[in-house]
Amino acid sequence: MLIDLEGIDGCGKSTQAQLLAQRLRAAGHAVVVLKEPTDGPHGSRLKEVLRGERVADTEEILALFAADRREHVADRIAPALERGEIVLMDRYYYSALAYQCAAGIPAERIRAVNAFAPAPAVVLVFDLPVELALERVNSHSVADAFERAPHLKRVRAAYLALRDDPLVRILDATRPSEVIAEQAWTLVSEAMT
Ligand code: TYD
Repeated sequence: MLIDLEGIDGCGKSTQAQLLAQRLRAAGHAVVVLKEPTDGPHGSRLKEVLRGERVADTEEILALFAADRREHVADRIAPALERGEIVLMDRYYYSALAYQCAAGIPAERIRAVNAFAPAPAVVLVFDLPVELALERVNSHSVADAFERAPHLKRVRAAYLALRDDPLVRILDATRPSEVIAEQAWTLVSEAMT
């Protein structure tokens, strides 16, 4: 089973991924938490773009994320699923549906480019206002090119526009972490039955 955790930078999804993994393990499941972009060759190129050290247009960025994901699926995701493990994704192709859509690429094209990737059972989107997310991000990392407010507002809107996707659940991430974790657990339990 594949679960995708999503949201704008600073939404708290990495914390929620750890909490969810602990809870699933306590329930007896084998769990692996994987993150995109990866540290592979395409992922490293992407990180240079994200840090502003390398210039790439939107189409190139879409292609690089997809190439990174293709390797990730082959090397880590598909084998873990074959072993019967629960795979928790800290970002997956739904990030492309938000970020690259916000950058102007139509959703249908993003879905087509990512059609090779196994679909998640459920996508949890941790939603919060951009101002709040930026406060959190600024407190522990340097704001990079992707962490600017106007852009993030478009990204948040793109995530919220996924509301009609049958796999997507939107969670209010302004609440205390334990409350969010409880709802995440309920939604994942529902998806598992
Ligand atoms: P990272 O610093 O790893 O973000 P975070 O710690 O917030 O998850 O950088 C990932 C960035 O890449 C983030 O801004 C979202 C973006 N991204 C895309 O634009 N498309 C994608 O397909 C993926 C996976 C990430």
